[in-house]
Amino acid sequence: MKKRMRNVLLGALAAALMISAQPNVALAKEASEVTNQADFSTDVIYQIITDRFVDGDTSNNPSQELCDKGDMRKYHGGDWAGIKQKIEDGYLTNLGVSALWISSPVENIMTIDPSNQSASYHGYWAKDFFCSNSAFGSMEDFQQLVTTAHNHGIKVVIDFAPNHTSTAELGDVVFPEDGALYRNGSLVGTFSNDPDHIFNHESWTDYSTIENGIYHSMYGLADLNHLNGTVDTYMKDAIDQWLDMGVDGIRVDAVKHMPAGWQTNWLSSIYQEHNVFVFGEWFTGGTGNDGDMTAFANNSGMSLLDFRFANAVRAAVGEKSMSMEDFYQVVVDTQNDFDEVNDQVTFIDNHDMPRITTLAKENQASVNEAYVLLLTSRGVPTIYYGSEQYLTGSDDPYNRGDMTRFDTNSKAYRIISALAPLRKTNTALAYGETCERWMNDDVLIFERQFGDDVALVAINRNQESSCHISGLYTNLPKGKHVDVLNGVMNGTDITVRSKGAVSEFDLAPGACAVWEYHTQENGLQIGDVDPGMGIAGNTVAISGSGFGTNGGSVSFGTTEATVVSWSNTCVEVQVPAVGAGEYEITVSAGGASDSYAGFRVLSGPQVCARFQVENAQTDYGSNVYLVGNVAELGNWDPDQAIGPFYNATGSICNYPNWFFDVSVPAGAAIEYKFIKKDGAGNVVWESGSNHTYTLPESGTTTITCGWQN
Ligand code: NOJ
Ligand code: NOJ
Ligand code: CA
Ligand code: CA
Repeated sequence: MKKRMRNVLLGALAAALMISAQPNVALAKEASEVTNQADFSTDVIYQIITDRFVDGDTSNNPSQELCDKGDMRKYHGGDWAGIKQKIEDGYLTNLGVSALWISSPVENIMTIDPSNQSASYHGYWAKDFFCSNSAFGSMEDFQQLVTTAHNHGIKVVIDFAPNHTSTAELGDVVFPEDGALYRNGSLVGTFSNDPDHIFNHESWTDYSTIENGIYHSMYGLADLNHLNGTVDTYMKDAIDQWLDMGVDGIRVDAVKHMPAGWQTNWLSSIYQEHNVFVFGEWFTGGTGNDGDMTAFANNSGMSLLDFRFANAVRAAVGEKSMSMEDFYQVVVDTQNDFDEVNDQVTFIDNHDMPRITTLAKENQASVNEAYVLLLTSRGVPTIYYGSEQYLTGSDDPYNRGDMTRFDTNSKAYRIISALAPLRKTNTALAYGETCERWMNDDVLIFERQFGDDVALVAINRNQESSCHISGLYTNLPKGKHVDVLNGVMNGTDITVRSKGAVSEFDLAPGACAVWEYHTQENGLQIGDVDPGMGIAGNTVAISGSGFGTNGGSVSFGTTEATVVSWSNTCVEVQVPAVGAGEYEITVSAGGASDSYAGFRVLSGPQVCARFQVENAQTDYGSNVYLVGNVAELGNWDPDQAIGPFYNATGSICNYPNWFFDVSVPAGAAIEYKFIKKDGAGNVVWESGSNHTYTLPESGTTTITCGWQN
């Protein structure tokens, strides 16, 4: 991993650090079933389309026009009471899931969308982000769901879609709701009568560029203008209300379609109050690197759903259109591309693609192989509700069928319930790096390791032929290792001889096996820091192993942080008052220490500013960037400049005028300049003196300058 820099200090130096650490006496974390909301490394998420899971309360079902079990585009009655039932009856806990991701809980339109005859059963057509979707339950029902989940050791992630409200534009079609946005019942604005510019009005995106996708609408969904101060405050206050109810994480819809700078400013305000896990949906169809997506994952302050991993599993064991060698190459590439590959959220199917069983032409063995890969690979695994029961369904809405059975004996259920708990006990699965031990077109044997914890995973996707395995080496300790799957997928036990040589064995047709070793005595090592960005005073969770139970010290660079809680596997600290920039975090305890580089401290609370520069003529291949005197503007380093700027959005800027939305420190007096940079990194600075501006303490702002020739 790029960001990791391990230096285990032993002896006198560490002892000295320990003594200086005395003022920060460790506080024992209060006993609670759910700890560490920000770090999901050891969790398994279960994604539920709330409407399609369990109808626990028929009294909240919408009227018949909207609710019809025979129509896949209407509500079916599922709700929070139903999810609560399945937590209480053990279906979810016995499966081993420790987090739920549920449909967006906010009030949606309660009319039929005339363009597709659909109701808002999926939750993506918001009307009032401050109220609950009455079909899912009341605010009180929601609170009960969160409390019940927490009492069962389950975290709650809500889907949240701040990009848009409901559909409002398609030719001559009249949409009864007109995309209206309400705040706690009061009208904020409508799409077609929008004097305050609550919405963008750029028509449908053609998806041709990132810029086009951000400021245009996604198939007519009324696209919110995040640079509008009312919208900005609205989204900060709205998410705060849900997080105040104990929500542990947010799945942010359509992050590719909102300004990245606005999102960083929004996240910063979230992290000021809540130490939670946020991951975004940046849809991508292939397995190759998408530079914009990777930059977003590494710089925005949130993790992403890992579509590259999903697409690779689906291709390798679902459709067999990619070899296991190619699959492993995607694992290697993503490990290099993402700064924090273990923080990305993995899956094998979801509500926007054919279910894995359908993709695999109903070959259940292939589905099981996909689950083994999902649950043992790097990243936080997500199980899409019902696929553990081999539900089928191709495209939306047919991939969002009702949960028809809760069979705890399904093979997939048994595989998941064998592997999910291992993510809690064996740190190799949560934090380990991945290395290949043996492979050919059909077989992949890979190993994950974190300190002394090791997991070795074998998959033979060829369901006709067995494969003789010789020359396999592992870091598992010497001796016999039983298959964690207990032979459910025809795996065998293995014997490790001296120097890690594994005795030859046959991997049966379609066999999968997992062998592991873990120890309570694993040394002090940082596995993850969440979130990876924040301001002084924010709480940050540092997870890993061997922190001990006697406390210790944590520093950001050379500045010591105040410890909020301390356990053997997780330390929470407050970001100290240090200058903005990238910091190495060091945890020291009991004579050992470990460091983790790359935590980004922001200058302070953030606001979002739109910078516009007029009349900046460029040669082909050159673009405009922004650089200035604060860390958020790259500290005058052209390599850290913000951009490339956009220049093709009708109502905002067109070439030779350029714009970009940037997260900047609230209230700061900034100095900045625009630069032109070409692909080779050649820089042309604006002449004249620096531009200056004092940013507002809150809200948004637009700053317009002419390019200084
Ligand atoms: C992505 C969601 O996953 C999809 O289901 C939804 O329709 C769009 N974003 C718009 O919210
Ligand atoms: C370097 C640039 O060349 C110049 O234009 C700018 O004014 C200064 N940085 C600011 O310190
Ligand atoms: Ca109901
Ligand atoms: Ca948008």
